[in-house]
Amino acid sequence: MTRGQVIGVVSQKGGVGKSTLCQLIASEAAAQGKQAKILDFDVKQMSSVEWVRQRLERNLTPSVEAEPSSDIRKALKHNRDYDVIVLDGMPGRPKRTAELVAQCDVLIIPTGASRTDLAPTLALARRITTLRHTAKGPFLALCRVATAAEANRARATIHAAGFVTIEGELVERPGYRQAQDVGRSVGETSFPSLNASARSLAQAILGIGAGDGSVETNEWPTWVANDRGGEPNRPLLAGRGSK
Ligand SMILES: Nc1ncnc2c1ncn2[C@@H]1O[C@H](COP(=O)(O)OP(=O)(O)O)[C@@H](O)[C@H]1O
Ligand SMILES: [Mg+2]
Repeated sequence: MTRGQVIGVVSQKGGVGKSTLCQLIASEAAAQGKQAKILDFDVKQMSSVEWVRQRLERNLTPSVEAEPSSDIRKALKHNRDYDVIVLDGMPGRPKRTAELVAQCDVLIIPTGASRTDLAPTLALARRITTLRHTAKGPFLALCRVATAAEANRARATIHAAGFVTIEGELVERPGYRQAQDVGRSVGETSFPSLNASARSLAQAILGIGAGDGSVETNEWPTWVANDRGGEPNRPLLAGRGSK
């Protein structure tokens, strides 16, 4: 039986922007006319479940759904009818994260730009390359950065470590928080330029499954951003992470 595209957003850290990114991806998919659902694995916070509740209370469209989840296999079985399923990961649970990774079609790790953010992000990315999975990625998404210049410096560090970033970044802005507080995604703020950069990040992520090349591929082997057919368990970029 077919199922929708499963996009996992994972990180060992809390507060990096996992839920923010999940809500953005799901609302962008919905804006594209797709049925989108967030499975919220951070059952302590339930940020995405609460966000959808706010959205419903305010009758905001397009409609996005969310439910708390602790069993990925069961949850995917129940939610076969959605076009896009976004997994909002839980922080600090390596075993549970590995269970999510195994079920994803695309893997995204949101990260800040500081050394303190990048070190655990790259450690997780390396660990993911050693796990059995068939997902494309992990792709790193720069979130909560101060400026595009700061994002670009972080990008250089990430590339030197052998990993790929999603084009674009989410800068830290009160306008993004204010939107989220009332059930809107960071692509649905009152500020067109903030919306445009957030939505373009989401479109790049949604495009990975479609293989439209929006991920920065420049010097990377083609199988990184394109179809990995025939080599489902090949560790992504293994051996390039030694710097
Ligand atoms: N780009 C941003 N600009 C401003 N606030 C942000 C941004 N990204 C996230 N936040 C805020 O930071 C907090 C943590 O983000 P969240 O997405 O919940 O992180 P996580 O799910 O990784 O714990 C939330 O209050 C969220 O609104
Ligand atoms: Mg969260």
